[in-house]
Amino acid sequence: MYLGVNIDHVATVRQARLTLYPDPVEAVDYCLAGGADGITAHLREDRRHICDDDMRRLAAIPGLHLNMEMAATNEMVSICRELKPGACCLVPEKREELTTEGGLDVVSHRTRMASIVEKLNDAGVRVSMFIDPDAEQIKASAAIGAPVVELHTGHYANLSGLDREKELEVIRKGAALAADLGLIVHAGHGLTLDNTPPIVAISEIEGLNIGHAIIADSIFKGLERAVADFKLLMARRR
Ligand code: PXP
Repeated sequence: MYLGVNIDHVATVRQARLTLYPDPVEAVDYCLAGGADGITAHLREDRRHICDDDMRRLAAIPGLHLNMEMAATNEMVSICRELKPGACCLVPEKREELTTEGGLDVVSHRTRMASIVEKLNDAGVRVSMFIDPDAEQIKASAAIGAPVVELHTGHYANLSGLDREKELEVIRKGAALAADLGLIVHAGHGLTLDNTPPIVAISEIEGLNIGHAIIADSIFKGLERAVADFKLLMARRR
């Protein structure tokens, strides 16, 4: 199972003081040493953590599987087409949000999304749509030619008890539908060592993107160990 480590919050610490350290690019080696299969970084429109130069340097690392998270804007599409990371994930973005709060609405913005996916596909970038595990959003993503969907696990992560079980079932059904439609299925957002095992158990999910919990854990146990602990858990897939 693929683990993409989201290193945005290494840059968040740097930007808190507007220093040159810690450098998110330096985090890459520690993540790979811990078993990360790739690196995810989000170039937000407000550049609040990852900056253009970070993304440029990440894209220049030979052999690195880089997943560029970005809003579906002309500016980001043009940066992505120039840098050509192996993959990109289209996410909704609102300036006032703390993190990506909901999935993309592919159904309502189908024509625009289709044109963006086409431009990125043409540039050889594998596009993923970050969507809620909703049947209509999944079908629309497949219909516009996106090869990958990343199912939003944020709501699942924020719930508890029976409500969490219900949301887990929604994710299971969504993953099965997406796989049936020929999509590669990823998942992410809000995942921690505690809440990840039931997601790992969903066989259709091929990859996870995890950031906040890994960077948070790394404060106490180091980045390599924090990544390795997620990889160990993912290796125990039933
Ligand atoms: N996947 C996507 C599309 C995201 O926007 C984020 C957050 O940047 C993540 C995964 C990782 O979420 P978290 O930081 O909560 O692990």
